[in-house]
Amino acid sequence: MDCIQDWPEPVVRVQSLSDSGATRIPERYVKPAADRPSSAPCADLRIPVIDLATLASDGPVDCAAVVQAVSGACRDWGFFQVVNHGVDPSLIRRIREVWGSFFHLPMEAKQVYANSPKTYEGYGSRLGIEKGAILDWGDYYFLHVLPSSLKSLHKWPALPPTLSRETTDEYSREVLKLCERVMKVLSLGLGLEDDFLQKAFGGDDAGACMRVNFYPKCPQPDLTLGLSSHSDPGGITVLLADDRVKGLQVRRGDAWVTVQPVPDAFIINVGDQVQVLSNATYKSVEHRVVVNSETERLSFAFFYNPKSDLLIRPAPELVTSEHPALYPPMSFDEYRLYIRRKGPRGKSQVESLKAV
Ligand code: OGA
Ligand code: NI
Repeated sequence: MDCIQDWPEPVVRVQSLSDSGATRIPERYVKPAADRPSSAPCADLRIPVIDLATLASDGPVDCAAVVQAVSGACRDWGFFQVVNHGVDPSLIRRIREVWGSFFHLPMEAKQVYANSPKTYEGYGSRLGIEKGAILDWGDYYFLHVLPSSLKSLHKWPALPPTLSRETTDEYSREVLKLCERVMKVLSLGLGLEDDFLQKAFGGDDAGACMRVNFYPKCPQPDLTLGLSSHSDPGGITVLLADDRVKGLQVRRGDAWVTVQPVPDAFIINVGDQVQVLSNATYKSVEHRVVVNSETERLSFAFFYNPKSDLLIRPAPELVTSEHPALYPPMSFDEYRLYIRRKGPRGKSQVESLKAV
């Protein structure tokens, strides 16, 4: 990654564009017609909502109904929402407050944490380092959670002063526990031992990081996207969306399905590494974010990933002469270089591997 050093051009905060009161968005944010929110039909469907009440405690997963529901959702949609997930609603309220306040700090206070494409940690406004690329209408804050050697609290905001690092730390520990439970359910849903995926991720050496996404109000929401269509490159993603406003859309064939936020639920989706490990039994599905002119939107994407230098390949148990391995072995380090250079590009990467 040594060759990626800095952004190719000065970084513009989307929030400052939004706050400027301009009624038109700069050309850089205008998407080609085919990528605009209205370019494809919106299907009036819902992603599955699954109740995890029977899983909320640690220990063995003994609920066949949950396994079946989760496994079905990952095969069919690649996405589902969970309720009764065991993460305290008051912690959810606090994390929203802390990060809502952070993004509303004066720009100088946020700039202290400006990130670079070397590690992406900190306050950022673009993904990808291609000069002249069309940009998304969103700012974000990226931070590492695991491995602990990469977790550098001094790169997390110390502002607002009231417990911001502690709250983020507590939130990440709780969501991590949820990820570990979901990994067991996903393994069982493949007909494998419950620790299969966790072992494939490197056991206790699995990785985790978080991106807090802030989508400011946009004067011309029909021309742009808050986050372009992409599949998540990692293992699984646990998203806490904003329950005041919609924005996330999931691809379903040629149409887009708008996710209806359920208060305090998490949206969970399969990433490319789990698609590879499951030999495409589970689908890492494209999704994108639309913005609006009325309300800003805050979301928390928690990414649970394989240890970055392990080779990830289809589980041998799932490879047969009828179902040959669809992907060659590759480490997550190698894999994510692509998205870090090019920015979000649909499913082009995992699909291109198939041809190898
Ligand atoms: C992401 C993502 C969706 C959202 O951060 O990868 O897909 O609603 N976020 O912000
Ligand atoms: Ni995503």
